[in-house]
Amino acid sequence: MSIYKNIICTLFLFLLAGHAISDIFGKKNPNLGVPLSNEEVKKYDFVIMPDGQGLPDGQGSVDEGKNLYDIHCMACHGMGGVKGLNGDLAGGHGTISGPFPKKTVGSYWPYSTILFDYIRRAMPYQSPGSLSNDEIYSISAYILFINNIIDSEMILNKTNLPGIKMPNSENFIWAFPEDS
Ligand code: HEC
Repeated sequence: MSIYKNIICTLFLFLLAGHAISDIFGKKNPNLGVPLSNEEVKKYDFVIMPDGQGLPDGQGSVDEGKNLYDIHCMACHGMGGVKGLNGDLAGGHGTISGPFPKKTVGSYWPYSTILFDYIRRAMPYQSPGSLSNDEIYSISAYILFINNIIDSEMILNKTNLPGIKMPNSENFIWAFPEDS
């Protein structure tokens, strides 16, 4: 008797699976969501690659960056990027391979371009997306300056940011050597 039960159960499962597969591959779809316009897609499609691909127009200076940093970032990241409530953004250079590595933007990050990307997508912590591109270039310039990576006169933009070499870049290994 139980063998018949098993056969019936198995057949039933096949039927269910077949139904699910035809739902996925057939014409039926759940009709959820609405298509996004190109403008809307652009709001989310803003990845910046290590080589600077995707960087927007705009520019910013170290001086402006300091003012903006003091207003929007200092409360959490400390004066001059050190000793804040949250992670330090400056210092720690040369400590990465030692017993007490201190990872900051300056000591650890491999590419200058991802600083812009990170700030734009994630900071200020409580209101990401609130800064303009010019403001982000300025704050990026200030953070690079307090790490002694650029001098105080540099005006950062999409052309010169990718050329800025980060101190720890040599210690990262490209995962796809054939593409490099
Ligand atoms: C309310 C507190 C707060 C404010 C304000 C804030 N941050 Fe942050 N920030 C954080 C926290 C928390 C993290 C760690 C986030 C994580 O690891 O997910 C962080 C991480 C970062 C990092 C990555 C550090 C690393 O080495 O991984 C950068 C860069 C950064 N913030 C820049 C900024 C800048 C620039 C501003 C101002 C525009 C800013 N933050 C404002 C809380 C804040």
